[in-house]
Amino acid sequence: MPPTPQVWQVCESCGHRLADDAPDPQCPDCGGLLAIEQPAPDTSIGSLRERFDARCCMTSPGAMSSGVWRFGEIVHPGADRPVSYPEGNTPLLVRPQVQRFAGCDGLLLKHEGMNPTGSFKDRGMTVGVTQALRLGASAVACASTGNTSASLASYAALAGIPALVFVPAGQIALGKLTQTLAYGARTLLVRGDFDACLALVRESSAKLGIYLLNSINPWRIEGQKTIVFELLQQLRWDPPEWIALPAGNLGNTAAFGKALREARAWGLISRTPRILAVQAAGSAPFASSFRGGFVERHRLKADTVATAIKIGDPASYQRAVSTIRETNGIVADVSDAEILEAKAAIDAAGVGCEPASAASVAGVRQLVRNGTIAPGDRVVAILTGHVLKDPGILQWYHQEAEPPPASANRPVEIDASVSAVERVLASR
Ligand code: F0G
Repeated sequence: MPPTPQVWQVCESCGHRLADDAPDPQCPDCGGLLAIEQPAPDTSIGSLRERFDARCCMTSPGAMSSGVWRFGEIVHPGADRPVSYPEGNTPLLVRPQVQRFAGCDGLLLKHEGMNPTGSFKDRGMTVGVTQALRLGASAVACASTGNTSASLASYAALAGIPALVFVPAGQIALGKLTQTLAYGARTLLVRGDFDACLALVRESSAKLGIYLLNSINPWRIEGQKTIVFELLQQLRWDPPEWIALPAGNLGNTAAFGKALREARAWGLISRTPRILAVQAAGSAPFASSFRGGFVERHRLKADTVATAIKIGDPASYQRAVSTIRETNGIVADVSDAEILEAKAAIDAAGVGCEPASAASVAGVRQLVRNGTIAPGDRVVAILTGHVLKDPGILQWYHQEAEPPPASANRPVEIDASVSAVERVLASR
């Protein structure tokens, strides 16, 4: 067997290098975040594109049918026993109704809610939990607004490792809490917000020797890169003009930048798409920093109906700044009303997504309207989570949204009579 090429974990602040099996979640010298430094892949056995395309077959057995492990040599070359559901292979959708809503004929939707636990987090978690198993971790942990915890709970169960999750009490969507409990994670409802949960899990896991699997963990980022690799492959390696995604803790924004950097360096693409990171207006510290030319890092108390991205102090800030700079990207913010309007349009097209996911489409619409995105540009908007994640949003339409989003489909309660049915039909 050929030797595994050397992979390093490198501190992004001070450059300290750690072996790929070091368990530290951050730099032991300065506390900076770690990034995986992949060796250039061996192209003497055929181009990377040809290799990946040859593996693009849903009927392959085991991990090879995964949309993450298909790219294994540029994700985790040292993994010999992937913990895979499998995940990925999510659809790239053309929906004229949503294109019309956004004012963009070239809009495509990449539905990451079609992953096994209903969000893009599975792509990072399959790699993170594989690494946990490789290190012999006794337990794994994360803080979460709900999707990370659901994903960690599932993959930890798959690997047979106990999982501990920290979520803000009363602030995560019902579908996500249901999954986390069902898959068996020890679930702590913390009296505090997500930012408090993240600080607590960082401190607790360091003290208690538990392997931390938030997106500050560099292996999570490696897995999430495959959203970009896969969409490029679906477009036959002809990159779109833009990739739009919702932004919270900024792990995914960081992953997209790394993926594009590597895709360019290793000949998968010859042009870099621009990244559009979209935040909810009440939780938009990154957008504020962007508007100020990234001179100042903003932090705030977050507030938005899109609970998945209700984050005031994003951990992957610095890496996300690199993504925006390197891709000539933009950070936008959209109001809760704009998010819910976009969600209603995506839902009404029969696609569906959770509120935070709709921020990407709301952001595209905003940039088309202000002339930054041309109506004919090819734009891939990432839908990050499934419509069933947040059933509570229906209640929100009832109680809080006055008036509700124009296209929100509200239920109508009636007496059990045909005349009542007739009255409803006549009122449309
Ligand atoms: N969309 C959804 C549905 C999410 O759950 C998240 C993050 C994001 C977008 C933002 O991604 O944090 O990488 O910028 N959810 C995390 C969680 C925080 O705990 O599930 P990000």
